[in-house]
Amino acid sequence: MNEIESRRSIRKYRKEMPDRGLIDEILHAGMLAPSAKNRQPWKFLVYTEKSKEMLLSAMETGLIRMRDDSTVPQAAKAGLTDAFHTLGIMREAPVLVAVLNTGSGSPFAEISPADRITEICDSLSIGAAVENMLLKATALGLGSLWIANTFFAYPELTAVIGTDAQLACAVVFGYADEAPPQRPRKPFGDAAEYR
Ligand SMILES: Cc1cc2nc3c(=O)[nH]c(=O)nc-3n(C[C@H](O)[C@H](O)[C@H](O)COP(=O)(O)O)c2cc1C
Repeated sequence: MNEIESRRSIRKYRKEMPDRGLIDEILHAGMLAPSAKNRQPWKFLVYTEKSKEMLLSAMETGLIRMRDDSTVPQAAKAGLTDAFHTLGIMREAPVLVAVLNTGSGSPFAEISPADRITEICDSLSIGAAVENMLLKATALGLGSLWIANTFFAYPELTAVIGTDAQLACAVVFGYADEAPPQRPRKPFGDAAEYR
């Protein structure tokens, strides 16, 4: 339970590659998460070195496309600067895990309310798996960052991954090169209410 308190989003990494055994332990922790109807809708794809470089060059292409496309509304571009910053962190971290939601497709497709409910349940399950992975990484002395800025380069990333499944998010792991303090949380009374 100590890891719940001590986990931080890490945005600076050392170059050193964690042992494969540690990454396997993290992925096993993800697989132990509860999931709606025990569907276990996750697939974890591990990228390092050259394969990670290729994936991230596709992400960069997607971010540049978004930035330079005058038909994309300004509101949809909010957050692009942050996405470029995240890309830099992904390049620095030695291990990247792309997390697929195998029961869902593109978030840009129209879906029925019934399918949306299934997708929400599977997204919750994937969130549980990712949190398990972050906590296990913390316990093993590794830093991590949960990343959803992948949505800015969605078509480019899914094409290079070679999947029709939903790219739910990415997570990077590595040895932390910073020790940030706990980020602020909203007051207890705003987050929780007894009725
Ligand atoms: C679903 C999700 C997506 C996130 N995406 C990003 C991201 O793309 N880039 C980034 O730098 N941080 C990302 N974060 C990290 C959050 O900014 C971070 O968790 C939050 O600021 C609280 O800080 P802490 O994790 O250190 O407690 C994401 C977190 C979650 C849960």
